[in-house]
Amino acid sequence: MELDPDKIPRHIAIIMDGNGRWAKKRLLNRINGHEKGMGVVRTIVQTACRLHIPTLTLFAFSTENWNRPKTEVSGLMMLLRRFVVTERRTMIKNGIRLNAIGQFDKLPPSVRDALQSVMDVTSRNSDMVLNLALSYGARSEIVEMAKQLAIAAKNGDLEPNAITPEIVSDHMYTKGMSDVDLLIRTSGEMRISNFLLWQIAYAELFFTKTLWPDFSEEEFISIIKDYQSRDRRFGAIT
Ligand code: IPE
Ligand code: IPE
Ligand code: MG
Repeated sequence: MELDPDKIPRHIAIIMDGNGRWAKKRLLNRINGHEKGMGVVRTIVQTACRLHIPTLTLFAFSTENWNRPKTEVSGLMMLLRRFVVTERRTMIKNGIRLNAIGQFDKLPPSVRDALQSVMDVTSRNSDMVLNLALSYGARSEIVEMAKQLAIAAKNGDLEPNAITPEIVSDHMYTKGMSDVDLLIRTSGEMRISNFLLWQIAYAELFFTKTLWPDFSEEEFISIIKDYQSRDRRFGAIT
């Protein structure tokens, strides 16, 4: 069965989980799991682009992940930098705009520089936005939004009564993008882990037991097919 081109999700978000367990099962180091996972990121980005998904958001590193051992954090940062550098050409070629969401300033300078350079060179691309959530936490995103609105109100630039969901959306990292239509989490965990709390208000959720390094293009497409078969009522009656 083919995908229905009229029901392509406008925004897919993925909690890429299970790298550590994948490595443990093979008696490998957790970093080997993250490395294998990066290869899957490459595949899924290309597939999403081919399917004309306008926005893909990948949870790569959470604000809570800083609490992991130093060696794992630095290994992950090294892999992230490598991913951005090696994928630069493919992103340019495929019209992908790279956008980092999260606490950019907390990232090591080498990662920041690599990201900034690819974000700059892809800034005019419009086929797909790839949001990489790095040092990302939904609560801190919401707190940042509240601070910005409070400052605007205090300066007399914003009437508190004029605040709408649209204004709130415009102060999130995902400003200008659609809300999430489909949220996927791998590895069997059934939680959100502080990811995109505002943007997933009406997302369809899909949990798979597959560990991220074992996730494939086939499974990704079959999840989108499942999404297309769902009846999204948004509280109304169909
Ligand atoms: C997801 O895999 C990647 C990151 C959170 C950076 P994990 O590292 O959380 O893998 P598990 O959950 O321990 O298997
Ligand atoms: C969520 O996974 C963060 C990422 C996938 C980057 P975690 O493995 O960190 O989340 P918990 O610990 O299962 O909630
Ligand atoms: Mg995990």
